[in-house]
Amino acid sequence: MKILLLGGGGREHAFAWKISQSQHCSKLYIAPGNPGTATCGENVPLNPEDNAAVHDFVVANSIEMVVVGPEAPLVNGVWNHLRRSRRTAHVPVIGPSAQGAKLEGSKAYAKRFMQEFGIPTADYREFFASNTASALRFLQKKATLPIVLKADGLAAGKGVVICQERDEAVAEMAEMLGGKFGGASRKVVVEEFLSGIEFSIFVLTDGESYKILPVAKDYKRIGEGDTGPNTGGMGAVSPPPFVDVAMMKKVEQEIIKPTIAGLKKRGIEYQGFIFLGLIKVGDDPFVIEYNCRMGDPETEAVLPRLKNDLVELFTAVRDRRLSEVKIEEDERAATTIILASGGYPGDFHKGKPITGLDKTQGSIVFHAGTKTVGNQLVTSGGRVMAVTSFGKTFREALAVSNKNAALIEFEGKYFRRDIGFDL
Ligand code: AMP
Ligand code: GLY
Repeated sequence: MKILLLGGGGREHAFAWKISQSQHCSKLYIAPGNPGTATCGENVPLNPEDNAAVHDFVVANSIEMVVVGPEAPLVNGVWNHLRRSRRTAHVPVIGPSAQGAKLEGSKAYAKRFMQEFGIPTADYREFFASNTASALRFLQKKATLPIVLKADGLAAGKGVVICQERDEAVAEMAEMLGGKFGGASRKVVVEEFLSGIEFSIFVLTDGESYKILPVAKDYKRIGEGDTGPNTGGMGAVSPPPFVDVAMMKKVEQEIIKPTIAGLKKRGIEYQGFIFLGLIKVGDDPFVIEYNCRMGDPETEAVLPRLKNDLVELFTAVRDRRLSEVKIEEDERAATTIILASGGYPGDFHKGKPITGLDKTQGSIVFHAGTKTVGNQLVTSGGRVMAVTSFGKTFREALAVSNKNAALIEFEGKYFRRDIGFDL
């Protein structure tokens, strides 16, 4: 089968690495890919958010399956665009329709969905730019602190602010509704603060049935001990030991089943990944957010632990036979460490030569923000590489990843050595 994978980060290198191991993949294209994915297939200079260009590439290269890594093309309707054309309507897309992607693309939409289907999540209210005065009054007089403000739309992971003080919340709300994140914050969800430990559940669905992939936990803060600003994610552990059988049962009954049933009830086409960002409060799981894709860096820890042939799983999704499949997980734990570029998550350096990859042993090194200039590999993003290792425990795996993370060199390199510190 000829497969087109959209995206070019660490998650997509992990996808490409896994897809290229399948005997069912005869040719893999990655758009735009990175130097890591280039070792698994052929990178093509195609903008994954340009629906017309993706369509034309699918036609010209007789692509038989499109796998979507990031959320932007999904929210942007790549599924709908391909489905509408006579020449691509038959090509399965692993990823939901634009309507399904709204679970990630609009926080207010996701909250309403959860409310309608009785899915546990923090209490919330919605405010609009046209009603700024009442939003500010609510925060000034009524809201319980701390309080969480969320830009409704996609804001590159920066749209969530947790406010400890009323004045801070009022100022932040005024900025958001005033257009701090453009159209994405013309609507703001105000949410009750939940206190607990977070984890990530990945569900693959064919629209009827579903399978749960290995569980993970990611580390979003830049600093050790979970300090400093939020990032896209600085590392991941799979599985997080606190997510036990009893917790998974609750997640399945209270969250996954009603989510799949809700999508069906609303007539939403969804054949792809659902990423549940969850928080354990006491002994109960609550949904913090839905995403319509896999997590990054969680994917770099989850896919290496998945023993199934990924293309077989995708084919089962295409044929709506996912109920016949059994997910097989590697017994070992995996720990992923992100190597970031100095300055990240603020302005960061680019173009720094990367060396020492050949010295690493016993880890899988996924490329995220790298590119080649001539023959030299250089940094090109805030998150540069993801180093994944296995171990009997996540701590054993962490030790190997830490050792190899130290061997890879580029100017300004930064990584957290404490992934899993709280487990
Ligand atoms: P989100 O983009 O919705 O995942 O939010 C980013 C981060 O903000 C989450 O990973 C949580 O750490 C935090 N967060 C979001 N909503 C809440 C909430 N209701 N209570 C506590 N923390 C939250
Ligand atoms: N690591 C969290 C995310 O991918 O959104």
